[in-house]
Amino acid sequence: MSTTYRIAPSILSADFTRLGEEVKNVIAAGADWIHFDVMDNHYVPNLTFGPMICSALKPHAVTAAGAAVPVDVHLMVQPVDALAQAFAQAGANYISFHPDATAHVHRSVQAIKAAGCKAGLVFNPAAPLDVLDWMIDDIDLVLIMSVNPGFGGQGFIDSALRKIEDARRRIDACGKDIRLEVDGGIKADNIARVAAAGADTFVAGSAIFGKPDYKGVIDAMRSALRG
Ligand code: DX5
Ligand code: ZN
Repeated sequence: MSTTYRIAPSILSADFTRLGEEVKNVIAAGADWIHFDVMDNHYVPNLTFGPMICSALKPHAVTAAGAAVPVDVHLMVQPVDALAQAFAQAGANYISFHPDATAHVHRSVQAIKAAGCKAGLVFNPAAPLDVLDWMIDDIDLVLIMSVNPGFGGQGFIDSALRKIEDARRRIDACGKDIRLEVDGGIKADNIARVAAAGADTFVAGSAIFGKPDYKGVIDAMRSALRG
């Protein structure tokens, strides 16, 4: 069975003075999802955008043909639950959070799903996957951080590859349709290695928004994925 890869540009590296246009442009360039990095200056040492920006951007997350493009919200906030509900109201399709940022992981996942969204768990570079022993049947996405959360433009941490392989084994054993996403330092020249480890969904911020030709970068990523 062939894998359907998804490329999820992170608007953390977009031009904030024209975010709507940036979302439209990156979708026209072939983005499959829009990755939305929420930072609270508490769980991570940086501060980005909240649910109001997400609702303002939601109408722009459509293809030229009018098809909705999933909004993939990555919460780097502590606590999780109130903001997760606000992002569900703001039009998020996927909402992912770091298990160490909430007191009750299972409850937080159920609340996201009850609000009509798909739920994901995110693992920092030094975080074990053990919580998946108990949570994998309940989630739609596993997100492996290949940088420490908080900033775009960092280098890929190689030990993430082993963790991706471990997550892939767990997902395959569970048999459910769960996306395996990787976030941090992804470029056209390392994406194939990351896919070979088992990832199927790739966040890329600076690699895309840092370049003048978004389509050129996304095409190069897809061609690397085709091998
Ligand atoms: C980091 C964010 C990432 C970030 C990735 O905390 O979660 O989504 O935008 O940026 P690049 O692709 O530049 O490493
Ligand atoms: Zn992210």
